[in-house]
Amino acid sequence: MNHPVILVAHRGASQEAPENTVASVSLGWAQQADAVEIDVHLTRDGQVVAIHDPTLLRTTGRDARVDELTLAEIKKLDAGVWKSAAYRHERVPTLAEVLATVPSGRRIYVELKAAEGLVPALRRAIEAGSVPLEQIVLISFEATTLSEAKRALPRCPAFFLADTPDSAPDKLADMIRFCRAEGFAGLDVSAGWPIDKALVQRLREAKLELHVWTVNDPRRARELVDAGVASITTDKPGWLRAKMAEL
Ligand code: G3P
Ligand code: CA
Repeated sequence: MNHPVILVAHRGASQEAPENTVASVSLGWAQQADAVEIDVHLTRDGQVVAIHDPTLLRTTGRDARVDELTLAEIKKLDAGVWKSAAYRHERVPTLAEVLATVPSGRRIYVELKAAEGLVPALRRAIEAGSVPLEQIVLISFEATTLSEAKRALPRCPAFFLADTPDSAPDKLADMIRFCRAEGFAGLDVSAGWPIDKALVQRLREAKLELHVWTVNDPRRARELVDAGVASITTDKPGWLRAKMAEL
């Protein structure tokens, strides 16, 4: 291995525990993930909650949008039993509840899903917590939202998400220029991208990092580490680290 790589637990340790819950986040820390990634949306009453989909159906069984229910209504729902009976009574957590779990020195990647009014609420939640801003990593596919968040929270590193490997070679120069102009620290791309040392070097020359999601194959993870990526997001951080060590 050329250099240490940061392993990021995707939606927490989400292979084993229900994604975007305190259980999956805590399991990520317990499995010694260097960072945990969560997704956030806004409730009807302006609270930032950790959930991937814009609707509650898949992970709680309630057929409603996150932004049409209040936090109190969402808190009544079970966000764990869909995964396993062992996780019955897990709730959709607020960002504040997730931030309260972050151990000293570790990072939390917060993926901003598009929502009107998300950034001011995000800033309030982050500033009310005690996690150092440098340990809170902002990521988003939404360029406008990420730019707004970076302006509101300039000390938080920000990475622009990209999942379009087919158009990557044409778009890369534009993306590099955009990251530089907005003060982002780099790109966080799908593992489907053609990632090699040359790509990492091209970004380094622009003073940008390359992060990658979502990788559960130890050989692919090893290739990415050898290419020099800064972090790998995975659904099973403990297992992946152990398997990578065997290679
Ligand atoms: O870490 C980025 C990755 O989580 C983006 O994809 O769909 O899992 O939010 P998604
Ligand atoms: Ca995500």
